[in-house]
Amino acid sequence: MIPADVRADHLRVPAPDGRQRWLHHVWLRDNCGCAQCRVPQSGERQLFTAAIPHDVAPSRAHLDETGALHVEWHDGHVSIWSPEWLDAHDYSAPVRAPLREMPRLWDASDHTEVIPRMPWQEVRHDPSAELAFLDGYAAAGAAVLTGVPSTDGTVAEVADRLGHVREVAFERVHNVRHDPTGYNVAHTTLDLKPHTDLPSYHWPPSTQLLHFLVNRAQGGESVLVDGWRVLAELRAKNAAAFDLLTSVELSWQLCSDAEDTFAVAPMVQLHPDGTVATFRFSNQLALPISADFDTVGAFYDVYRMLGRMVDDERYHATFRCEDGDLVMVHGHRVLHGRRSFVAGSGDRHLQDAYMEHDDLMARRRVLRGTHLPLPATPPTPAVSA
Ligand SMILES: [Fe+2]
Ligand SMILES: [Zn+2]
Repeated sequence: MIPADVRADHLRVPAPDGRQRWLHHVWLRDNCGCAQCRVPQSGERQLFTAAIPHDVAPSRAHLDETGALHVEWHDGHVSIWSPEWLDAHDYSAPVRAPLREMPRLWDASDHTEVIPRMPWQEVRHDPSAELAFLDGYAAAGAAVLTGVPSTDGTVAEVADRLGHVREVAFERVHNVRHDPTGYNVAHTTLDLKPHTDLPSYHWPPSTQLLHFLVNRAQGGESVLVDGWRVLAELRAKNAAAFDLLTSVELSWQLCSDAEDTFAVAPMVQLHPDGTVATFRFSNQLALPISADFDTVGAFYDVYRMLGRMVDDERYHATFRCEDGDLVMVHGHRVLHGRRSFVAGSGDRHLQDAYMEHDDLMARRRVLRGTHLPLPATPPTPAVSA
């Protein structure tokens, strides 16, 4: 038995690697794993964090012979944490585990190595293939399924098999083919610059599926751009310009006779650690900029610099999609576009649907079997010394 070194607001106990773990009393009390503090059937926190007294402190604390930490609190409550749980959650470790996964950025030079391409029949029926596909998609923000049956609405079945369709205005499944009366530029035969869809939502769909039922037209190659890759380069070149992309708010709109989606947001939104969370880029849906007079000129400079990069083949993954190919992209990261095609040269019909990136990552964690939290309390609590 090793007694803990109890200080005013934290305690110190040795870790197996010889250093000291420093853990706040309030953090320990908040993370008690006992059946009173957790909902036994779900493991959710039952203890109301705000009810923990400001001066919470142990009356006794020690490590037992297995390395489990035992704390008896002043009110008599007892908490026990297994050594495995302490290893997994110790925030006083010299290097804390990163909170989020780092993406693998790509451009024209390496996209074929990074973006996975797998047969749907394999992904659908073999859990290890499905996991490999999701791992590749998570890193690249893009992936291609081949051999998806060219039938109406199958794109939604794929979304519902891997996660859930995210419903938005307009149709659940969008048809994209040449239509002179269509509500946006996708329905023309024009070159479609790389863009993200529905920046006109405050939370744009975070995954997009584009299913080619048939592609017999001349031209119309697909173009993907790793937007986070482009932003990383722009940021390294000119940090002040990059900051304007995160601070100047734009308005975005996509509407039809019956629908109107509208949002106000900057092109780039960051996580608190400075990494990019969401990237909006849609030449066609940005409304007239309204910002401080002194900012507008500088904003246009960086906006055009960014646009030229997005349009630069150095960043393009360009490939032709065949009948039955389904392209999946992380909608807050990877831009999609197409080259113009020749009207009347052959059928070109694709259907797209949206889903949420989180649901794909959830599916991935379930396939890995890493989704269930480690219980805090050891299964058979060691006898307190
Ligand atoms: Fe689009
Ligand atoms: Zn408890």
